[in-house]
This record gives sequence, C-alpha cells and structure tokens, in this order.
Amino acid sequence: MTGAGRAIRYAATMATAPSAEQRQRRDTTLRERAFRVLDGAWRTTGGYCWPNRRTYPHLWLWDSCFHAIAWAALGDERALREIDAVFRAQLPSGFLPHIRYADSNRADRRRGPLRGVSSFTQPPVFVRALDAIRQAGMPIPDHFFERAAQALDCLWRDRLRDGLLVIIHPWETGLDDSPRWDSWVGSHRWRRRRWTRFDRFLVTQTRYAEDGRGIDNACFLAAPASFNAIAADAAALLGTLLGDTAWRQRAEALAAALDEHAWDDDEQLWRDIPLRGGGDSSRIPTVDGLLPALCTRDRSRAAAALAQLSDPERFHAPFGPRYLPRTHPLYRPGQYWRGPAWPPLNYYLALAAVRNGYLHLSADLAERTRNAVLRARFAEYWNPETGRGLGARPQTWATIAVAFPGDP
Ligand code: GLC
Repeated sequence: MTGAGRAIRYAATMATAPSAEQRQRRDTTLRERAFRVLDGAWRTTGGYCWPNRRTYPHLWLWDSCFHAIAWAALGDERALREIDAVFRAQLPSGFLPHIRYADSNRADRRRGPLRGVSSFTQPPVFVRALDAIRQAGMPIPDHFFERAAQALDCLWRDRLRDGLLVIIHPWETGLDDSPRWDSWVGSHRWRRRRWTRFDRFLVTQTRYAEDGRGIDNACFLAAPASFNAIAADAAALLGTLLGDTAWRQRAEALAAALDEHAWDDDEQLWRDIPLRGGGDSSRIPTVDGLLPALCTRDRSRAAAALAQLSDPERFHAPFGPRYLPRTHPLYRPGQYWRGPAWPPLNYYLALAAVRNGYLHLSADLAERTRNAVLRARFAEYWNPETGRGLGARPQTWATIAVAFPGDP
C-alpha cells in the first residue's frame, strides 16, 4: 500500500473518536485508577513500585523508569524517589542492573553472580524519566544527571561493537521472548519451559567483569534496533539537558550506524543484527523495529516505518499496535511476546511519532493505549484485536498511559 493509502485508512479510523467530554471523563478515571495502581504497589522501604506483587516482586530497571514518568504526570514526588531507587542499585562502574531484589542479600545464580542485583541490564529509559520529572517542575539534584551519564558511559564502554551497542541476553532489551530470538532458541514454537531453559543456559555462557556485571556471552551477542534506538534517544536527550555536544554526537553516531547496518528495505523497518549465534529470526518484523524512528536522520525511512502503525495489514489494530503484522505466520495475538500490545513500546512509538511531527499518530497511539489499559484493567499486555488483558494484573507500567506525549 502507498503512503497516501495508509494515511487515508488512518483518517478513517480517526472518524470514530469519542467526544472531548467523553475523553475527559475517561482520562479522569484513568488517572484515578493509575494512582491507585502505583500507590498500591509502592514499597516504602525500597522507595519503588514492584511491577506486580505476585509475578514481579522486585525492582525492574525500565519498569521503574516508566513508573517515574507516570508519577511525574500525576504530580507525585515519588517520581524522583523511584529514580533514586534505580540509581541505588548502580555499581561503581556505572552499570545499572535490570533487577534489584527486594531482599538486598538475595543471591540468584539464575541471574548472575551478584548479591542483591542481577548482572544484566535493560534499556536506558532513565534519561526520559529525568526529563519527565523536570518537565513536571520537580527539582532534580545534579547527582542524578551524573549517575545517568555514568550509566550511559558504562554502556558505551562495555558494549560498543562496530558502532552499535550489543546485548548479552534477550532480557536486556526487555522484549524477553520476542521471535527475534528464535534462531538462538532453535524453534518458532513458543514454549515457556524451553525459553526458561534457554534463558538459564545463556546466563551460564555469560562472561562477567570483576565487579560481577555481564560484559559478554559465548553464545549470544546481538545489536538490537530497539535497544540502540532507546540508547540513542537517551544520549541525545542527556546532551540537550546537560548542554553537552559529546552526548549528542554519540547519539548521532549510533543512529547513523543503525541506518547503515540495520535498515531492512523489504520490511521498511530496522532489524536486529546477530553478532554471535542467531540467524534469520533477527529480521522478523516486530513493532520494536520501528523504534529507530526516534533517532534516524532519514526522515523518509521514519515516515515509511511509522506509516505501518496506521496500516491494518501491518501493526494497526483496534487496541494496538500489534507486536507482529496481522498477516505474519508467527502472529499470535494472545501469546506472550508473539502478538500482544505492550505499554512501554506504545509509549516509545508515540515519542517517535512526535519527534517526526506526526502528532495525529501520537494522539492515536495515546487514545488506543488509554482505552486498552482501562479495558484490560492495567494488564501487563493485551490482545490488540479485542483489548483483553493478559499477563500480570495490575501491572504498574500500564500507568504510563497517563503520560503519553503530544496531543495535537
Ligand atoms: C517481563 C518483561 C520485561 C519486564 C519484566 C517486569 O520480563 O519482558 O520487559 O521488565 O517483565 O515487568
């Protein structure tokens, strides 16, 4: 379908939008419920929200950053405390672990050799969180920016290979069981047991630095489009916040490397690059492959990628976006990481739309997410065709629906 065709279909979907009054009522309800979800998950001793009491009873790095963004949108000072809790897990090397255990003495070899925290990381959403807190008018002590710079520095020091950042375990993207890892797993059929075995095996194959942070993996090394896009966005934003051109240059270099190595002309989005192990699955068109629209200098590629969010044959769905295109043989709208919509991705896609000036698209993503979050009762993820909630519930990151950027 042509770009114009997509735009027309998209305009048709906007015609069914609710009235301003209905929307206002819905947003009030959404904010009240979001507050209750966050407040109910708040751990006073740790100073953070656990994502879900039963399934995820610890601090998760990117989840806490999304909580902070939601807290900031709700005008609650716990926004900064949650980011403080994130940085309290930081190692002196700058490394930010993807999990900080509720019990600081806990050792869990299934997530590396460290006590109290995991040895892996997650996408650097913390700069976005600091910016949201700043925009909400809350004062931020300087050391938060220093911590953020140290964390990004650590990534650039440890993980840069051929101009792109690499990950050493799928967990590090936050897209844990995405079909993009299928070539490593050796099967397109998702089975929880198989994936658990795979995850644990990769932990045994990880190489750790002296301080216990993961730095390499004998069987798995990939440069994912999404992780690099989020990191480039973080570096660019940090550069703006600190008035530091070196960070902006790092961001531009990453964006240029993505365009040079990861653009997939057939799918009109960015693929992942397998560097050790893996294979064709890195090209499976998942919606996170649109995220480099956050940082690319190539506006026509960004347009072609983002247009797929308005195309019903691709990612556009009533409660979407879908994680895979509707017609893809691996699309399973109800299965973990095989089709459902995920709040953190919706949020970053909306940021990408704003950055490229597509305010109607970002508003549409916000609308769909808000409706879906209410319908799915703050589920971890949901069926994009029906809005049926899936996974843990309530899951705190669904509260990000109160903080979407850029209404036109
Ligand atoms: C799942 C998700 C990951 C998230 C974690 C806690 O593992 O794949 O992205 O951080 O749950 O919510």
